[in-house]
Amino acid sequence: MENRSLVTIAEHSKEKILYLLEMAKQFEKNPNRKILDGKIVATLFFEPSTRTRLSFETAVNRLGGRIIGFSDASTTSSSKGETLKDTIMMVSNYADLIVMRHYLEGAARYASEVAPIPIINAGDGANQHPSQTMLDLYSILKTQGTLENLNIFLVGDLKYGRTVHSLLMAMRHFNPTFHFIAPEELKMPEEYKLYCEENHIKYVEHTDFNESTIADADILYMTRVQRERFTDLMEYERIKNVYILRNKMLENTRPNLRILHPLPRVNEIAYDVDNNEKAYYFQQARNGLFARQAIICDVLGITLEEIKC
Ligand code: CP
Repeated sequence: MENRSLVTIAEHSKEKILYLLEMAKQFEKNPNRKILDGKIVATLFFEPSTRTRLSFETAVNRLGGRIIGFSDASTTSSSKGETLKDTIMMVSNYADLIVMRHYLEGAARYASEVAPIPIINAGDGANQHPSQTMLDLYSILKTQGTLENLNIFLVGDLKYGRTVHSLLMAMRHFNPTFHFIAPEELKMPEEYKLYCEENHIKYVEHTDFNESTIADADILYMTRVQRERFTDLMEYERIKNVYILRNKMLENTRPNLRILHPLPRVNEIAYDVDNNEKAYYFQQARNGLFARQAIICDVLGITLEEIKC
């Protein structure tokens, strides 16, 4: 049987990405459709989440499905030593689809290989976050009118940031120029730079973050320095506030510039940016509902034609 899981966005063709974005557009027109009637979706969150879990659960609720799951693994039998495989096999007895966030890189791939039902990767460690990427792409398309030939600036924690890793891979179809802005300690890992080279993705690396660095940006994608990924908390304390975007820095930026952030933010975007018309991160999170409705339908084999009916 075909494995319809979504583990990494790298497995999706350009056509498939555009197809899912069209589906998301249809759901934005009408997110309330009873097309998951009788379906049960399990949300298994082994790491904290606000947006991803709640937007997946809202997506299911608005489509008429039902939710089971947990947001705190310490309340489950994994705290008694049950393996991930056994947990996945048990939940597969009860649900039609599993949405899983896990702290280990590769956990979603492993789950997709042992589960008899589809798995959606809702973030695996510092590796990938493909559903975030679909909402990021949808947000870029809505604000820029295209995904092609854009200058995309990724700022902050590019080492542990799974959202930037996924976005980079998805954008290979659209001829972007990436600018990686990170301190030495949080630079884009070599494996992703190699991916860029193999896929003819242009990139420039910077350590400075100021008005002149971002003057040509179409998308400024800010990220949080992720305390939970550091083994040395002294190092985290030293670099946690390395880049802070302030409203004043946006004065001479392009009119079409939009600021994205997967959220949560800590200090990296000053609150005075929130009222700038170029700030788009709250709308971006809203787009997650529609993008995730599209992903859920796709992994369950529900087509664009069916949702248009
Ligand atoms: N962007 C994102 O993954 O947010 P949460 O951690 O709140 O789900």
